[in-house]
Amino acid sequence: MKFLSSPKTALKLGLLHGIHHLDRWRHGNRRVDLIAMAERDWGLTTDPRGHLLVQGCDLAELGRRYGTPLYVVNREQLAQTYHAFHDGFASRYPQVEVAYSYKTNPVPGVIRELHAMGAIAEVISEFELWLALQLGVPPDRIIVNGPGKTPAGLERAVKSGVRIINIDNPAEIDAIDALAARHGVLQKVGVRVITSVGWSSQFGIRIDSGKALEAFRRIRARTNLAGCGMHLHLGTGIQDVGTYVQAIREVLEFAGVVQRETGLVMEYLDFGGGFGVPTVRHHSVMDGKLMLNGLPPLLAPGPVPPAPTDYADAITTLVRRFYPDGTARLPTLVFEPGRAISSSAQLLLLEVLAIKDGRRGVRNVILNGGKNITMPLGYEFHRIFAASRMREPVAAAWHLFGPLCHPGDIVAQFEPLPELAVGDVLAIMDAGAYFVPNQMNFSNPRPGVVMVSDGRDQLIREHESFEDIVRRDRL
Ligand SMILES: Cc1ncc(COP(=O)(O)O)c(C=O)c1O
Repeated sequence: MKFLSSPKTALKLGLLHGIHHLDRWRHGNRRVDLIAMAERDWGLTTDPRGHLLVQGCDLAELGRRYGTPLYVVNREQLAQTYHAFHDGFASRYPQVEVAYSYKTNPVPGVIRELHAMGAIAEVISEFELWLALQLGVPPDRIIVNGPGKTPAGLERAVKSGVRIINIDNPAEIDAIDALAARHGVLQKVGVRVITSVGWSSQFGIRIDSGKALEAFRRIRARTNLAGCGMHLHLGTGIQDVGTYVQAIREVLEFAGVVQRETGLVMEYLDFGGGFGVPTVRHHSVMDGKLMLNGLPPLLAPGPVPPAPTDYADAITTLVRRFYPDGTARLPTLVFEPGRAISSSAQLLLLEVLAIKDGRRGVRNVILNGGKNITMPLGYEFHRIFAASRMREPVAAAWHLFGPLCHPGDIVAQFEPLPELAVGDVLAIMDAGAYFVPNQMNFSNPRPGVVMVSDGRDQLIREHESFEDIVRRDRL
């Protein structure tokens, strides 16, 4: 209660904490308490000195040797999450493809590892398509998506012979047909559909308006297109099997309608990504409001997130129900996970630059990375560890700020951390999804990336230099 300024605020907060404890009591151990998660939940360990280790490598020492800010990828954890996802589905269904969503973490060294494990590529821009081809991914292992496909991007896709292009708006039909004619190919296409649940807005074509069926009719009439796929992507960080079941049921019913009405048979049913992870959660509405008002979040334990096997059980059972006459006609199921695979396999090391006394018992710390490299922390709760003080008790609630000389440069608030000192290294967990693509050059270069594999560390992306930042400028 030491953060409180007035009796009225104290009363409100007391009530909120009451609700929080009632909630814990009602749901007991069946809830996940993110704040209680330990390093082993990310495949890490702690040595007797209290240093956080990734495959035996001391993270604080890696930070000192390579310099911070620094991303560290744990290859073993990456393999574990990839195989848990892939095998969950592949052990229940004969034709499964896992297409890693490039945009989630477009670090070539990470993507290359995932391809070596068996992932195919899901790309949403011409750059990502170029990158996949540069990495030696065979074109028929590339899936092209996205609401904003450029003429040049489509041409590259058709010319190189990608597996399938998922059409996001009807105008793409003519464009792809013309390109396929020019290059003398029969291009496989799917349609990204909008169901009654999940993202819509700028994405896809609605089933319920009849426009998606109309798109398939138009595809059917084109000589250079083979309409054979249906694509869905519901959102991100979803921790609920029911949302997938609802949307997929609608897709399966619609695939039947399309076959009846147009004769097109769906070879690929692509259910997108969006699968949440147990170690990250969106700020609840309540916590967002509390922090906005300078109050500590409740961080109420949430429901136990589904495991890949839970999704796989529900989805494959549902699909089989729609294809009762044996495996010969089963469509290939495609999944495009990003977060579910890379989130927990990468962390971000930041260093303490300065410590200041705060108000009402909260301590302030300035780190050498802020909003420029920690964007998702603005809306998600991530665990943060003091990398060389793992055995020390929590000393205070800390507000963590970046170096950007901007009032909005808040990394995290009310973090329960031990006594910190200048030079300490903090590890921001789950920095493997949407951190790298959301980086910006706000007064600073972007960090390098080290991969730890088999207990050995290797730089897979150099720190950006000052010269890199201005390389394209004409001085
Ligand atoms: C089409 C598509 N597929 C896959 C993904 C990956 O999503 P996630 O990281 O939530 O699995 C996204 C992300 O927005 C997407 O837009």
